Amino acid sequence: MKRFRQRYYDFFSHIYDRFVALHSADRGARLRYFLADKTGLCRGDKVLDICTGTGTLLHYLREKVQGEGLVAGADFSIGMLRAGKSKIPDHDTIFLVMADVACLPFRDVVFDAVTCSHAFYELKGETQNRCLQEIGRILKSGRPFLMMEHDVPKSFLVRMLFYLRLVSMGPHKAREIVRHERELLLRYFRSVEKIPTPTGRSKVMICKG
Ligand SMILES: C[S@@+](CC[C@H](N)C(=O)[O-])C[C@H]1O[C@@H](n2cnc3c(N)ncnc32)[C@H](O)[C@@H]1O
Repeated sequence: MKRFRQRYYDFFSHIYDRFVALHSADRGARLRYFLADKTGLCRGDKVLDICTGTGTLLHYLREKVQGEGLVAGADFSIGMLRAGKSKIPDHDTIFLVMADVACLPFRDVVFDAVTCSHAFYELKGETQNRCLQEIGRILKSGRPFLMMEHDVPKSFLVRMLFYLRLVSMGPHKAREIVRHERELLLRYFRSVEKIPTPTGRSKVMICKG
């Protein structure tokens, strides 16, 4: 099943950036700037973007650490990582790591922030819980995990597509997310704050533990 999902994302990686550019209302990349801003990162900090896909967010995170520190992206799709690598200039300090978020290959307590953009809802079954556990393990105390996701859409048709995406994670997980997202996050973090994004269509959950 995992291999099937990896292949699905490998296939998707060939058109992913074009697909996002076409269907997104966020032409000026305001969402990426917004998320990077909310990390509170400073020069020299270390940040990890999980489920990084083609790594677009990494370039905005690098601005925050001002070329020092560490900017890393993790993903389990080699296709997505290859597409991401092609966007990174030679000798750049952005690192891409092939890894499943259920088992992150990093030491305890190393990162100043962990981000996840429009991917958490796609994690299947137990992977979500294991991912949150892993984030808690690798984050420094008091530093944030920021999860950006679509908020429940107002338009009926788009709302149906949103629920379909959730159900693809498995009916139980979908129900848990819709009704008890905050409670799920509070199992792993001490505080959870929800803030709307400038597009009005997404939200950022800022979790600290
Ligand atoms: C919808 S894309 C989001 C990509 C990127 N974060 C963005 O905002 O454009 C979801 C990404 O999550 C990755 N992914 C899904 N399940 C994963 C897992 N268990 N471990 C690591 N990456 C995973 C996929 O390979 C894919 O690149």
